[in-house]
Amino acid sequence: MTFVVTDNCIRCKYTDCVEVCPVDCFYEGENMLVINPDECIDCGVCEPECPADAIISDAAESAEDWLAINAQYAAVWPVITEKKDPLADAEEWNGVPDKLRFLSEEAAETA
Ligand code: SF4
Ligand code: F3S
Repeated sequence: MTFVVTDNCIRCKYTDCVEVCPVDCFYEGENMLVINPDECIDCGVCEPECPADAIISDAAESAEDWLAINAQYAAVWPVITEKKDPLADAEEWNGVPDKLRFLSEEAAETA
């Protein structure tokens, strides 16, 4: 069991979630974060922290595709352990439906 990040993170990337994760299992793409399902301990503390309500349990019916996406990108994007500023247009994109089409496969730029 794990939690997964879903498409409402895309183009928002608030990063409040990374602050609370006890096992540092968030990974950062250019415009979305994902959770590594193999590292997540299913504690659930990140879920209420997301201002975009983008984090769900993989027990949810809608989670299956997201589980695969989270696993896929967690394997290639860098870990993120500290909160940073959200993306510039986060407020405008928060709640826009079906944002998967905007997902960037690029990893986040690391300093
Ligand atoms: Fe981290 Fe817990 Fe969220 Fe899993 S459920 S990503 S362990 S905070
Ligand atoms: Fe994304 Fe929500 Fe975290 S928008 S970066 S899952 S706080």
